[in-house]
Amino acid sequence: MTYSKKVIDHYENPRNVGSFSNSDINVGSGLVGAPACGDVMKLQIKVNKDEIIEDACFKTYGCGSAIASSSLVTEWIIGKSLSEAESIKNTNIAEELDLPPVKIHCSILAEDAIKAAISNYRNKNK
Ligand code: FES
Ligand code: FES
Repeated sequence: MTYSKKVIDHYENPRNVGSFSNSDINVGSGLVGAPACGDVMKLQIKVNKDEIIEDACFKTYGCGSAIASSSLVTEWIIGKSLSEAESIKNTNIAEELDLPPVKIHCSILAEDAIKAAISNYRNKNK
């Protein structure tokens, strides 16, 4: 299969690769896996007291589309409120990256990782 230019760009120059310390109360971590292929994505957010995502990072063990999806969404969510970030749909990601049907689950992984990171942050801060 051929990847779109945008996927290749994110794959070759992934944005915001890294990790934050889980012991930081302002950090929420989401770890999700895709049963279809065994790929794993970790996405973390650093949230300020106004519930704005100040920073985000990811580590993904997976295909090019999964790496591109996670790289893209870290760019999208930095500067957004938790509720804005929560409203990102996998279809937004798939459209931006021109993902073919067999790669849709890679974008679902990224949507799920955002939601998991937000719920982890909320659980730590309630
Ligand atoms: Fe193997 Fe995604 S299916 S890396
Ligand atoms: Fe499974 Fe991309 S996450 S092939």
